[in-house]
Amino acid sequence: MVKKILILSVLGFSSVMAADGAKLYGAKCAECHGTDGKEASIAGKAIAGGSGALAKLIGYKNGTFGGDQKALMQGNVATISDSDLQSIASYVDTLK
Ligand code: HEC
Repeated sequence: MVKKILILSVLGFSSVMAADGAKLYGAKCAECHGTDGKEASIAGKAIAGGSGALAKLIGYKNGTFGGDQKALMQGNVATISDSDLQSIASYVDTLK
């Protein structure tokens, strides 16, 4: 019984996270990456179909990841909290 409640609350929690991630993505990322993550004209490549978005986003934030245009991404993620980045990254990893 306890186990069942635990599983349900974990599932409930992750779907809330996913909804938040989608909303945040739409507000903060879609402009450059497209609503489906497939826009490549600005970033040089699509982010849809990738994996490990969180590591990349944290890397942009702390300066350990990025290419020629990383300054653009650093500006984007600088003001986003780590927990919001986590929600966004979970959403980005679902884009195929
Ligand atoms: C102003 C335009 C712009 C916005 C807004 C933006 N990005 Fe980017 N993004 C870029 C550019 C340009 C790059 C390539 C940067 C580089 O050279 O490392 C990039 C790279 C990335 C990468 C790495 C791709 C890879 O595998 O190398 C990820 C993941 C990413 N963006 C996710 C996001 C997310 C999530 C958001 C919203 C929080 C976001 N971006 C907002 C322009 C943008």
